[in-house]
Amino acid sequence: MADDEYLDAVDYTRDDIDVEDFAETKFAVKLNDVSRSYKAGRMDIEALRNVSLEVKLGDFIVIAGHSGSGKTTLLNIIGAIDLSSSGRVYVMDVPINDYDEAFRSSFRLSNTGFIFQSYNLVSTLTAVENVMFPMQLSDKSHSKLHDEAIMLLERVKMDHRADHLPWQLSSGEQQRVAIARAMANDPPIILADEPTANLDGDSGQMVRDLLIELNEMGKAVIVMTHDEGIIKQSGIRRFTMNEGVLTENV
Ligand SMILES: Nc1ncnc2c1ncn2[C@@H]1O[C@H](COP(=O)(O)OP(=O)(O)OP(=O)(O)O)[C@@H](O)[C@H]1O
Ligand SMILES: [Mg+2]
Repeated sequence: MADDEYLDAVDYTRDDIDVEDFAETKFAVKLNDVSRSYKAGRMDIEALRNVSLEVKLGDFIVIAGHSGSGKTTLLNIIGAIDLSSSGRVYVMDVPINDYDEAFRSSFRLSNTGFIFQSYNLVSTLTAVENVMFPMQLSDKSHSKLHDEAIMLLERVKMDHRADHLPWQLSSGEQQRVAIARAMANDPPIILADEPTANLDGDSGQMVRDLLIELNEMGKAVIVMTHDEGIIKQSGIRRFTMNEGVLTENV
Protein backbone atom coordinates (compact mmCIF):
# COMPACT_ATOMS: atom_id res chain seq x y z
CA MET A 1 0.00 0.00 0.00
CA ALA A 2 1.32 3.46 -0.89
CA ASP A 3 1.88 5.87 1.96
CA ASP A 4 -0.72 8.37 0.75
CA GLU A 5 -3.39 5.66 0.93
CA TYR A 6 -2.66 5.25 4.63
CA LEU A 7 -3.63 8.87 5.17
CA ASP A 8 -7.21 8.37 3.99
CA ALA A 9 -8.00 5.99 6.85
CA VAL A 10 -9.13 8.44 9.55
CA ASP A 11 -9.84 12.18 9.58
CA TYR A 12 -7.48 13.35 12.31
CA THR A 13 -8.86 16.88 12.36
CA ARG A 14 -11.93 15.62 14.23
CA ASP A 15 -11.73 15.61 18.02
CA ASP A 16 -14.60 13.16 18.54
CA ILE A 17 -12.83 10.15 17.08
CA ASP A 18 -13.84 6.92 18.76
CA VAL A 19 -12.28 3.44 18.68
CA GLU A 20 -15.15 2.35 16.35
CA ASP A 21 -13.92 4.90 13.80
CA PHE A 22 -10.75 2.89 13.51
CA ALA A 23 -12.46 -0.24 12.17
CA GLU A 24 -10.56 0.26 8.92
CA THR A 25 -7.21 0.68 10.66
CA LYS A 26 -4.90 -2.16 9.72
CA PHE A 27 -2.30 -1.67 12.43
CA ALA A 28 -2.27 0.47 15.53
CA VAL A 29 1.52 0.26 15.29
CA LYS A 30 3.66 -1.11 12.49
CA LEU A 31 7.43 -0.91 12.57
CA ASN A 32 9.49 -2.02 9.58
CA ASP A 33 13.17 -2.55 10.25
CA VAL A 34 13.44 0.36 12.67
CA SER A 35 16.86 1.34 14.02
CA ARG A 36 17.81 4.18 16.34
CA SER A 37 21.38 5.12 17.04
CA TYR A 38 22.68 7.85 19.31
CA LYS A 39 25.98 9.66 19.02
CA ALA A 40 27.60 9.99 22.42
CA GLY A 41 30.95 11.72 21.89
CA ARG A 42 32.81 9.54 19.41
CA MET A 43 30.75 6.49 20.26
CA ASP A 44 27.75 5.28 18.30
CA ILE A 45 25.13 3.64 20.48
CA GLU A 46 22.73 1.35 18.65
CA ALA A 47 19.70 1.62 20.92
CA LEU A 48 17.38 -0.19 18.46
CA ARG A 49 18.50 -2.64 15.79
CA ASN A 50 16.15 -3.53 12.92
CA VAL A 51 13.03 -3.75 15.05
CA SER A 52 9.90 -4.94 13.25
CA LEU A 53 6.58 -5.16 15.05
CA GLU A 54 2.91 -5.32 14.15
CA VAL A 55 0.35 -4.39 16.78
CA LYS A 56 -3.39 -4.38 16.13
CA LEU A 57 -6.09 -2.55 18.04
CA GLY A 58 -7.10 -4.79 20.93
CA ASP A 59 -3.61 -6.32 21.25
CA PHE A 60 -1.86 -6.33 24.63
CA ILE A 61 1.92 -6.35 24.17
CA VAL A 62 4.42 -6.78 26.97
CA ILE A 63 8.14 -6.18 26.44
CA ALA A 64 10.74 -7.08 29.04
CA GLY A 65 14.44 -6.36 28.82
CA HIS A 66 17.31 -5.34 31.02
CA SER A 67 18.32 -1.75 31.70
CA GLY A 68 19.68 -0.03 28.61
CA SER A 69 18.20 -2.58 26.19
CA GLY A 70 16.17 0.06 24.32
CA LYS A 71 12.67 -0.18 25.85
CA THR A 72 12.12 3.54 26.44
CA THR A 73 13.69 4.38 23.08
CA LEU A 74 11.14 2.12 21.38
CA LEU A 75 8.19 3.65 23.27
CA ASN A 76 9.34 7.17 22.42
CA ILE A 77 9.48 6.29 18.73
CA ILE A 78 6.02 4.71 18.77
CA GLY A 79 4.73 7.74 20.70
CA ALA A 80 6.17 10.15 18.10
CA ILE A 81 8.36 11.77 20.75
CA ASP A 82 11.53 10.58 19.01
CA LEU A 83 12.41 9.75 15.41
CA SER A 84 13.98 6.55 14.17
CA SER A 85 17.35 6.73 12.39
CA SER A 86 16.15 4.31 9.73
CA GLY A 87 13.17 2.11 8.95
CA ARG A 88 9.47 2.91 8.66
CA VAL A 89 7.16 3.78 11.55
CA TYR A 90 3.37 3.70 11.09
CA VAL A 91 1.05 4.67 13.90
CA MET A 92 -2.65 4.18 13.11
CA ASP A 93 -1.42 3.54 9.54
CA VAL A 94 0.13 7.03 9.35
CA PRO A 95 3.87 7.18 8.49
CA ILE A 96 4.57 9.62 11.31
CA ASN A 97 8.28 10.08 10.57
CA ASP A 98 7.32 11.85 7.35
CA TYR A 99 5.70 14.73 9.21
CA ASP A 100 7.04 17.76 11.03
CA GLU A 101 7.10 18.17 14.79
CA ALA A 102 3.89 20.27 14.82
CA PHE A 103 1.90 17.49 13.17
CA ARG A 104 3.54 14.83 15.27
CA SER A 105 2.77 16.58 18.54
CA SER A 106 -0.93 17.02 17.76
CA PHE A 107 -1.04 13.48 16.39
CA ARG A 108 0.52 12.26 19.63
CA LEU A 109 -2.09 14.04 21.76
CA SER A 110 -5.02 12.37 20.06
CA ASN A 111 -3.55 8.94 19.38
CA THR A 112 -1.29 7.89 22.23
CA GLY A 113 -1.68 7.99 25.99
CA PHE A 114 1.62 7.72 27.88
CA ILE A 115 2.05 6.23 31.37
CA PHE A 116 5.50 6.55 32.97
CA GLN A 117 7.31 4.79 35.79
CA SER A 118 7.61 8.07 37.72
CA TYR A 119 4.11 9.35 36.79
CA ASN A 120 5.42 12.65 35.29
CA LEU A 121 2.50 14.75 36.51
CA VAL A 122 3.00 18.51 36.23
CA SER A 123 3.82 19.48 39.81
CA THR A 124 2.13 22.90 39.69
CA LEU A 125 -1.16 21.54 38.32
CA THR A 126 -3.92 19.83 40.31
CA ALA A 127 -5.05 16.30 39.49
CA VAL A 128 -7.93 17.50 37.31
CA GLU A 129 -5.71 20.08 35.57
CA ASN A 130 -3.17 17.36 34.81
CA VAL A 131 -5.90 15.26 33.19
CA MET A 132 -7.05 18.29 31.15
CA PHE A 133 -3.51 18.98 29.94
CA PRO A 134 -3.61 16.72 26.83
CA MET A 135 -7.02 18.21 25.89
CA GLN A 136 -5.39 21.56 25.00
CA LEU A 137 -6.10 21.27 21.27
CA SER A 138 -9.81 20.66 21.78
CA ASP A 139 -12.21 23.44 20.85
CA LYS A 140 -14.69 22.42 23.56
CA SER A 141 -15.35 24.86 26.40
CA HIS A 142 -13.22 24.80 29.53
CA SER A 143 -16.15 23.65 31.66
CA LYS A 144 -16.95 20.78 29.27
CA LEU A 145 -13.32 19.65 29.35
CA HIS A 146 -13.30 19.97 33.13
CA ASP A 147 -16.40 17.71 33.32
CA GLU A 148 -14.70 15.17 31.04
CA ALA A 149 -11.58 15.21 33.19
CA ILE A 150 -13.63 14.64 36.33
CA MET A 151 -15.32 11.67 34.64
CA LEU A 152 -11.90 10.23 33.84
CA LEU A 153 -10.83 10.71 37.45
CA GLU A 154 -14.00 8.83 38.50
CA ARG A 155 -12.92 5.94 36.27
CA VAL A 156 -9.68 5.61 38.24
CA LYS A 157 -11.44 6.40 41.56
CA MET A 158 -9.58 9.67 42.06
CA ASP A 159 -12.37 12.24 41.64
CA HIS A 160 -12.32 12.94 45.40
CA ARG A 161 -8.75 14.23 44.97
CA ALA A 162 -9.42 16.34 41.84
CA ASP A 163 -8.09 19.57 43.35
CA HIS A 164 -5.01 18.10 45.00
CA LEU A 165 -1.50 18.77 43.76
CA PRO A 166 0.72 15.78 42.91
CA TRP A 167 2.81 16.07 46.12
CA GLN A 168 -0.39 15.71 48.14
CA LEU A 169 -1.05 12.29 46.58
CA SER A 170 0.44 8.87 47.28
CA SER A 171 2.47 7.11 44.56
CA GLY A 172 -0.44 4.87 43.61
CA GLU A 173 -2.81 7.82 43.51
CA GLN A 174 -0.42 9.79 41.28
CA GLN A 175 -0.21 6.86 38.87
CA ARG A 176 -4.01 6.60 38.74
CA VAL A 177 -4.20 10.31 37.86
CA ALA A 178 -1.53 9.67 35.20
CA ILE A 179 -3.70 6.87 33.77
CA ALA A 180 -6.70 9.22 33.68
CA ARG A 181 -4.46 11.69 31.81
CA ALA A 182 -3.44 8.92 29.38
CA MET A 183 -7.15 8.31 28.71
CA ALA A 184 -7.80 11.98 27.86
CA ASN A 185 -8.86 12.32 24.19
CA ASP A 186 -9.67 8.58 24.25
CA PRO A 187 -6.52 7.58 22.35
CA PRO A 188 -6.53 4.21 20.53
CA ILE A 189 -3.01 3.41 21.79
CA ILE A 190 -1.77 3.26 25.40
CA LEU A 191 2.00 3.20 26.00
CA ALA A 192 3.30 2.39 29.47
CA ASP A 193 6.93 2.42 30.63
CA GLU A 194 7.31 0.26 33.76
CA PRO A 195 4.03 1.64 35.15
CA THR A 196 4.00 -0.49 38.32
CA ALA A 197 7.72 -0.43 39.16
CA ASN A 198 7.37 2.14 41.97
CA LEU A 199 4.07 0.89 43.38
CA ASP A 200 3.18 -1.39 46.29
CA GLY A 201 0.88 -4.42 45.99
CA ASP A 202 -2.58 -2.83 46.09
CA SER A 203 -1.71 0.19 43.93
CA GLY A 204 0.12 -2.06 41.48
CA GLN A 205 -2.96 -4.28 41.20
CA MET A 206 -5.20 -1.29 40.52
CA VAL A 207 -2.89 -0.13 37.73
CA ARG A 208 -2.77 -3.66 36.24
CA ASP A 209 -6.57 -3.84 36.30
CA LEU A 210 -6.84 -0.44 34.61
CA LEU A 211 -4.46 -1.50 31.82
CA ILE A 212 -6.55 -4.61 31.23
CA GLU A 213 -9.72 -2.51 31.21
CA LEU A 214 -8.23 -0.15 28.60
CA ASN A 215 -7.28 -3.15 26.48
CA GLU A 216 -10.78 -4.62 26.81
CA MET A 217 -12.14 -1.32 25.48
CA GLY A 218 -10.33 -2.20 22.24
CA LYS A 219 -7.20 -0.11 22.68
CA ALA A 220 -3.75 -1.37 21.76
CA VAL A 221 -1.76 -1.51 25.00
CA ILE A 222 2.04 -1.71 24.90
CA VAL A 223 3.77 -2.11 28.25
CA MET A 224 7.47 -2.22 29.07
CA THR A 225 7.64 -4.18 32.30
CA HIS A 226 9.14 -6.97 34.37
CA ASP A 227 5.99 -7.17 36.49
CA GLU A 228 5.05 -10.86 36.65
CA GLY A 229 1.48 -9.84 37.45
CA ILE A 230 1.24 -8.30 33.99
CA ILE A 231 3.45 -10.76 32.10
CA LYS A 232 1.53 -13.82 33.32
CA GLN A 233 -1.86 -12.64 32.11
CA SER A 234 -3.49 -14.76 29.46
CA GLY A 235 -4.06 -13.48 25.95
CA ILE A 236 -1.08 -11.16 25.79
CA ARG A 237 1.88 -11.19 23.39
CA ARG A 238 5.26 -11.27 25.14
CA PHE A 239 8.52 -9.93 23.75
CA THR A 240 12.07 -9.57 24.96
CA MET A 241 14.35 -6.66 24.16
CA ASN A 242 18.05 -7.46 24.23
CA GLU A 243 20.65 -4.89 23.19
CA GLY A 244 18.20 -3.20 20.86
CA VAL A 245 16.93 -6.43 19.29
CA LEU A 246 13.26 -7.28 19.78
CA THR A 247 12.16 -10.92 19.76
CA GLU A 248 8.73 -12.40 20.34
CA ASN A 249 8.68 -15.13 22.99
CA VAL A 250 7.05 -18.28 21.70
N1 LIG B 1 19.57 10.72 24.36
C1 LIG B 1 20.46 9.72 24.38
N2 LIG B 1 21.75 9.93 24.01
C2 LIG B 1 22.65 8.94 23.98
N3 LIG B 1 22.36 7.66 24.32
C3 LIG B 1 21.11 7.39 24.71
C4 LIG B 1 20.09 8.39 24.77
N4 LIG B 1 18.94 7.81 25.20
C5 LIG B 1 19.24 6.51 25.39
N5 LIG B 1 20.53 6.24 25.10
C6 LIG B 1 21.19 4.92 25.16
O1 LIG B 1 20.41 4.01 24.40
C7 LIG B 1 20.35 2.75 25.05
C8 LIG B 1 18.89 2.38 25.31
O2 LIG B 1 18.34 3.25 26.28
P1 LIG B 1 16.86 3.11 26.82
O3 LIG B 1 16.58 4.27 27.70
O4 LIG B 1 15.94 2.92 25.67
O5 LIG B 1 16.93 1.75 27.66
P2 LIG B 1 15.82 1.07 28.62
O6 LIG B 1 15.67 -0.34 28.15
O7 LIG B 1 14.61 1.91 28.66
O8 LIG B 1 16.56 1.07 30.04
P3 LIG B 1 15.92 1.18 31.53
O9 LIG B 1 15.36 -0.19 31.85
O10 LIG B 1 17.11 1.50 32.37
O11 LIG B 1 14.90 2.26 31.53
C9 LIG B 1 21.18 2.89 26.32
O12 LIG B 1 22.46 2.40 26.05
C10 LIG B 1 21.21 4.38 26.56
O13 LIG B 1 22.38 4.76 27.25
MG1 LIG C 1 13.61 2.87 30.21
